Amino acid sequence: MVESKPDDLMERIVSLCKRRGLIFQSSEIYGGINGFWDYGPLGAELKRNVKDYWWRVMTRLRDDIAGLDATIIMHPKIWEASGHASTFADPMVDCLLTKKRYRADQIVPQSGLAYHFSGAEEGATPAAGKPKMCAEPYSYLVPDAKKIELARQAARTFYRQRGLAEPRLLGERTETVVNSTRYNPENGSLLTEPRLFNLMFKTYVGPVESTENMAYLRPETAQAIFAQFKTVAEVARQKVPFGICQIGKAFRNEINPRNFTFRSREFEQMELEFFIRPDEAVEAICGRVARPEKPGHPGSPQPDWGWQMWHQYWVEERLAFYENIGLPRASLVEYWQKPEELAHYARATVDILYKFPFSKRDDKGELAGEELEGVSARGDFDLSQHQRFSAKAMTVFDEELKAAWAGLDEAKKTALAERYFEGRRAYLVKMNEPAEAAARQARQEAAALAHGLYLPHVIEPSAGVDRLALALICNAYCEDQAPDEKGKMEKRVVMRFSPRIAPLKVAVFPLLKNRPELVAKARQIRDLLRPLMTVFYDDAGAIGRRYRRQDEAGTPFGVTVDFDTLGEQGEGLKETVTLRDRDTMKQQRVKISELPALLLERIQ
Ligand code: GAP
Repeated sequence: MVESKPDDLMERIVSLCKRRGLIFQSSEIYGGINGFWDYGPLGAELKRNVKDYWWRVMTRLRDDIAGLDATIIMHPKIWEASGHASTFADPMVDCLLTKKRYRADQIVPQSGLAYHFSGAEEGATPAAGKPKMCAEPYSYLVPDAKKIELARQAARTFYRQRGLAEPRLLGERTETVVNSTRYNPENGSLLTEPRLFNLMFKTYVGPVESTENMAYLRPETAQAIFAQFKTVAEVARQKVPFGICQIGKAFRNEINPRNFTFRSREFEQMELEFFIRPDEAVEAICGRVARPEKPGHPGSPQPDWGWQMWHQYWVEERLAFYENIGLPRASLVEYWQKPEELAHYARATVDILYKFPFSKRDDKGELAGEELEGVSARGDFDLSQHQRFSAKAMTVFDEELKAAWAGLDEAKKTALAERYFEGRRAYLVKMNEPAEAAARQARQEAAALAHGLYLPHVIEPSAGVDRLALALICNAYCEDQAPDEKGKMEKRVVMRFSPRIAPLKVAVFPLLKNRPELVAKARQIRDLLRPLMTVFYDDAGAIGRRYRRQDEAGTPFGVTVDFDTLGEQGEGLKETVTLRDRDTMKQQRVKISELPALLLERIQ
């Protein structure tokens, strides 16, 4: 394999994506639009395969998960309840010189000599209506004192932008600065103070653009699941533990979209909300709560599992999913968020990271990885919020709990009820309910637990389709050597997609396009396979070139119809074709009648 520098590698991947129609800029003929991407023919197939496989393993192959397809625009109260309206914000800073905007938490700390100016006065005769001076302070960071002219030039530009024609700088002084995030790493200019910027896109519902008609494009698909929780549970006749999953578009007005599609403003999510019993209910029913004793997959779900077992189960299920579509375990990182990194409602979050070529490196120089998915244990926060904001009960009735509770001794009843009470009270107080009202309501909820009523807790595996598609592309990209038409070795770009998610599964080639018998047979094979998988028919150019084009598209199998297929070498090889493997480039002779079963086995 030819080694590439990471930046260079990413450039090649981006260029291949464009060349082969995987991904390109949205609205390209108008110069593109930052943070928005289109998927071409191959990219659309790749994305569809990823989503179909996720949907299959999450819903169709399980009894305990139901699907949902909710709207993008929902009642604005949903975003008040979820906290997005008030807290879904990133701190941003602007460069005082270029006006470029950055995320404050992504500014790399800078050290050097800062030149501070208290203001500037007009050095020329001021034109009518123009200011004579500007008292706004400005600073500029240079690596050392020798670069003083850079600082003065930047300061003059700054004051010119404020209306002075020939600024004379005032109050110049210097300061040694160490590890400061107040200066733009791209040019040294002072940045504005950080301000919070809400990432939700706003729009208006109906013809009047008023505050009452304002709505948001959803920043995540999850909230629709919580809002529809009761309805789906009822119509799907599901009992806790069970899940609801959804795939769909999400929108975030990211301050700094970057790394190709990794951080986009429009993207797709695949989210599961898996509802479980609170641990107190599990203990009442089973007499114990099972907790993880060792790392790894804990096996099939059991009734005595508490939230930690469920959380571990979903982390492992999700890791297995990624391995099943071709991301090797070594390319993934299981990152347990530290307590100080957790969202206020989360009990535990594991981020599943993929080692993208643009990932940061750790102390040992290894790629640290970037988030593909978060698997979060969110307690009963979300359903509690929607219950409070909508005033509709989100509780479920658990027959088994009611029956088990009746059989508990008094000490156990008190201990479990007290624990449940404490949890509910703490949540209500955190949500600013007055202490007395919170205690009263929590007491009622603890009493309801004894009658089999509770708010389910949730484990949320939340993945991004676009990030996964990008990870699959980066992982598949490979450069090796293959013989050209004359047997001379040349560089080959090959996308080693897992056959399960490869955009095209098989390419069919007649050896020569000017031989009607070969063409007719090849078309017959294309039509035989087409109802079962994506097939690409190609009769243009030399066969080696055609193989190379499919290698770049990542097509795992190639079928060539030659004169042997027509029986010209005798009956033995009649109705057989060569089947070429993309990765090994090995060819085998296969009966046409056996092709469908053989290929299906390898791609499913
Ligand atoms: N409901 C939880 C939630 O939305 P998140 O970590 O904000 O959690 C989940 O998003 C996943 O969505 C991420 O792991 C990532 O794969 C994807 N995602 C989030 N923001 C994205 C963006 N700006 N561009 C592309 N994918 C994004």
